[in-house]
Amino acid sequence: MQAAIHFDRFNTLADEEARGRIQTARDRLGKRAVLLCHHYQRADVYRHADLTGDSLKLSRLASQSDAEFIVFCGVHFMAEVADILSKPEQISILPDMAAGCSMADMASLAKVERCWRELEEVMGDPDRLFTPVTYINSAADLKAFCGEHGGIVCTSSNAPKILEWSFARREKVLFFPDQHLGRWSGHKMGIPLEDMAIWDPDLEYGGLTPEQIRRAKILLWKGHCSVHQMFQAGHILRFRNQHPDGLVISHPECNFDVCRLSDYVGSTETIIRTIKEAPADTRWLVGTELNLVNRIAGEFKAEGKIIQFMAPTVCMCSTMARIDPQHLAWCLENLAEGSVVNRISVPEHEAALARVALNRMLAAS
Ligand code: 13P
Ligand code: SF4
Repeated sequence: MQAAIHFDRFNTLADEEARGRIQTARDRLGKRAVLLCHHYQRADVYRHADLTGDSLKLSRLASQSDAEFIVFCGVHFMAEVADILSKPEQISILPDMAAGCSMADMASLAKVERCWRELEEVMGDPDRLFTPVTYINSAADLKAFCGEHGGIVCTSSNAPKILEWSFARREKVLFFPDQHLGRWSGHKMGIPLEDMAIWDPDLEYGGLTPEQIRRAKILLWKGHCSVHQMFQAGHILRFRNQHPDGLVISHPECNFDVCRLSDYVGSTETIIRTIKEAPADTRWLVGTELNLVNRIAGEFKAEGKIIQFMAPTVCMCSTMARIDPQHLAWCLENLAEGSVVNRISVPEHEAALARVALNRMLAAS
């Protein structure tokens, strides 16, 4: 293998030059590399995508790809899933290792294991009573925890279905790390809000009394997305006042009131599809990340669709934005020169258990 080219040489590349070098490296690599891009990716990276999607679609695409290199323009957990679901000889790459997910960082294996021990103290064997469900926005070791304990992974597009799967097996669910997705999905299943309790991982017994723990049907981990928490019910009420005929669509990582006041709630793929299929000349308020909203606002403008961002402030996924044309050019040029940089590799003992939980999800959804 060649010695890797250092990123310093790409750091100061002008965007246009980086664009040309990405194209040249891609031409040299041909079908050896596939570029998977999440919908929140910035426009100057998104334009290079071979395939785009929400987390569920991208995990399926990663599992079906035959390319030698899966270059993931998304965040760390997505590249991990690509590594876990792809063939052993395939290589998953994240162009900037700093592209994490702040929500995923809100749950750790140590804290989930402590929670499991505390549940055991209060109620006896948690493996018998609880299905652990992790949102795909989580580290591989948490997916492995779910694989080992009869649990499952969910995404924003299949969470209610995954809860059904979970309750068909055990009477309770421990849902991490996104309380909002858990609450909204539980509500969609008809579970009363009083039967869902917030588990604060920084407090003993999640900050709950034994009675509260026994009563809860779903324990919701106290985690959230820093981007989606910016959207508030007031934004929707103001929009409805100004545009009584307007439609509102939100991502289920938004808080409960935002979801409740929206006409539609769904994953990034669902948001795009719903607006695409809507009649011409409709007006939309959209509660999800800014890059996606800006892109579809431009894409559907010709149909007379007016698409507005929900918050008055800029809410971008700043970690996903770390994947810029400079990092993409750097990793593709290295691959074309025969050096692998920024490989995401999940240890096999962990990957095997995480795969169990991911495959349960793929089969159930
Ligand atoms: P989707 O699965 O809807 O693409 O969402 C992923 C995500 O991280 C949203 O913040
Ligand atoms: Fe994570 Fe939120 Fe970014 Fe999605 S938008 S990747 S949940 S930080």
